[in-house]
Amino acid sequence: MALVFASPIDAPEPWLGALDRLLPDLECGIWPEVGDPARVEYALVYRPPAGMLRRFPRLRLILSLGAGVDGILADPELPDVPIIRMVEPSLTRTMTDYVLLAVLRVHRGLDHLARAQRDGAWSFALPALPETTRVGVLGLGEIGRAVAKRLHDNGFAVSGWSRTPRALATVRCHAGRDELPAMLAECDIVVSLLPATAATRDLMDASFFAAMKQGAHLVNVGRGDQVVDADLLLALDQGQLGGATLDVFREEPLPPDHPFWRHPNVLVTPHVAGCALPETGALAVAEAIRRDRAGEALLHVVDRSVGY
Ligand code: NDP
Ligand code: OXD
Repeated sequence: MALVFASPIDAPEPWLGALDRLLPDLECGIWPEVGDPARVEYALVYRPPAGMLRRFPRLRLILSLGAGVDGILADPELPDVPIIRMVEPSLTRTMTDYVLLAVLRVHRGLDHLARAQRDGAWSFALPALPETTRVGVLGLGEIGRAVAKRLHDNGFAVSGWSRTPRALATVRCHAGRDELPAMLAECDIVVSLLPATAATRDLMDASFFAAMKQGAHLVNVGRGDQVVDADLLLALDQGQLGGATLDVFREEPLPPDHPFWRHPNVLVTPHVAGCALPETGALAVAEAIRRDRAGEALLHVVDRSVGY
């Protein structure tokens, strides 16, 4: 029984070291050095090369190193075995930290203060109560729900949007396309925690930005293909949007000549909002393998019919 590891961005050693301590009988290899492909039953991957996974005839599980599985589902030759999304506390914690930081930065006007500093201006103003700022969370999944709770715990008013109806005590919940405009109209800051699917591609276009409050702020930590870049730039330049915090992009790394890099009202971060860490993430991987071996129900299985 063996596991193959493949990721263009994650260092294999910490993951394989942590797995070795948890599952000492699990033989691990790093793609493409895997020995006999017929021995591989588990694949731990992030954006694996197309066609790689079909080479393992006895593959039982595809274990994603990320919460988003678009980089796995993109493989046209993907074998028909369960795909397990990464759900682990460090990933959730880093995502909630990032979103809270982005929201507080807008709420406390840090950009305005930075500009005032450059002008040598002592720009004192009382902060507004967080309750007066409503944050809309697009996607109320594993991470979206944790983000909504963290924002509520910090005093913010929170709205949420999902594909199917959700009921959360501290969130004003909306669901489906029909309810999106109402949610956008009530929020001062909108945060995307949506997966990349056929239904979310190009969601944030001119009509989406027009439905947002004038001067509102967008935070995108979901996936870059949800934003129509030209429409976002126009909405920023026309003052319909006050600013954007962008962690994910249609093309990553963001090309050097992309206008987001130098736009005065855009903060660009290089897909660092959330990170699964080997110390805690390996526990989730080991648990999935334990369940598979024991014939128990698997958790966090991707529903290929909806793409997440
Ligand atoms: P989940 O699968 O747990 O949740 C996805 C949520 O999105 C669900 O609430 C789902 O609705 C909602 N959703 C999906 N499609 C639609 C749609 N068409 N309309 C409305 N709502 C929709 O995912 P996670 O919370 O674990 O992760 C979310 C995403 O965050 C990942 O897919 C990834 O793209 C991104 N991410 C980015 C990171 C970064 O560093 N920038 C790090 C980690 C994740 P429903 O509840 O009805 O199913
Ligand atoms: C993820 C990511 O999906 O890193 O976990 O974007």
